Amino acid sequence: MTLNHGIDLVAIPGPSILPERVRAVLSQPMPDIYDGELIDVSERVLARLPGVVRTAGHGFVVIGNGHAAWQMSINNLLEPGDRVLILEAGVFATFWGEYVTDAGGVVELLPGDMQTPVDPHALQERLTADDGSIRAIMVAHTDTASSVRNDIPALRAAIDAAGHDALFMVDGIASIGTEQFEMDAWGIDVAIGASQKGLMCPPGVAFVWAGERAMARYRELSTSRPRTGYVDWEFRVEPEAIYQSYAGTPPVMHIRALDVALDLIDEEGGLEAVWERHRILADAVRAAVGAWSTPDGIGFNIASEAHRSNAVTAVTTGSIDAVELGRICRDELGVTIGIGLGNARRSSFRIGHMGHLNTPMILGAIGTIESALSQMGAPLAGSGAAAAAASIGSR
Ligand SMILES: Cc1ncc(COP(=O)(O)O)c(C=O)c1O
Repeated sequence: MTLNHGIDLVAIPGPSILPERVRAVLSQPMPDIYDGELIDVSERVLARLPGVVRTAGHGFVVIGNGHAAWQMSINNLLEPGDRVLILEAGVFATFWGEYVTDAGGVVELLPGDMQTPVDPHALQERLTADDGSIRAIMVAHTDTASSVRNDIPALRAAIDAAGHDALFMVDGIASIGTEQFEMDAWGIDVAIGASQKGLMCPPGVAFVWAGERAMARYRELSTSRPRTGYVDWEFRVEPEAIYQSYAGTPPVMHIRALDVALDLIDEEGGLEAVWERHRILADAVRAAVGAWSTPDGIGFNIASEAHRSNAVTAVTTGSIDAVELGRICRDELGVTIGIGLGNARRSSFRIGHMGHLNTPMILGAIGTIESALSQMGAPLAGSGAAAAAASIGSR
């Protein structure tokens, strides 16, 4: 028998749940795209974009997903033959690196794994030994697959300690709008974001923020670099008309949605308040996973407490079949949880806790997962639902 006859709760790590007010603007009719309301909304959104990542730099919009933003960053800032150091921790920086290879770059991996953050000492060592050929360093702040949160200030300090001048490029797709992200203060040259996670919008637009050093590199390459059509910044840097910011028809629905989502962040009390809410709700999830944990059952994918993301938690399941767990949660109980990625599909799952989220959503997801675990006869050390509730109660 299924109990799934209410509102479906989706607790995957993006796309995240859309706020009511965001969904409302998505149903508005098409505006004039050359005059009036849309121009104002677009100007407002573009003006607010740098503040989302705390930069005085440029925020570029690409109509596409996070992969499109990766492409835009590479095509504007690298030349064929450039060497890029990919800091592996999970999967996403490595995927970004595949686009570098496709664009004629040379990728070098600072090897990592699915369980641990990037080691700043290993980075410093590699950069100290470099002959200056590394032009850029790419890392994911939060890797959504492993749920690791890399220590970006520590990685910046390692780059500085090595005296290296490579561009520091950080994928913040899972962390922007969910936890502290300080592009300028942390010495990030390029940040990558997307609409569908902490920014509470549908997938379909993504962002590249470029700081001063990145813009200098862009200008330096502007005569030698191959032109790249749609993603090129040439007309986007100082647009004279709205279509130049988007290289064509503006993504009307996304612009309106983003305007509302940014209003919601302001109304909540700004980014600090949003980050704090995410921390409290993530603590509740972590309390639950900690309470469930047994030696051959549930556990954290990321052992280091300081490196667990506030946006997503990857949970290992040991002898418990995570695919069956996901099926029961979704089909019988009404919560969709994130699958474990790669070859960990049967032995891990992910709980997304990003964006438009409150206590009943988190406690509902945790309680439901616990019901499914009980139904499967999974060994549980204690009640995760009780631990999560207590965690929020004592926040
Ligand atoms: C950290 C991170 N980077 C990049 C991507 C790729 O984004 P997209 O699927 O929008 O292309 C994702 C997607 O989940 C992600 O989590």
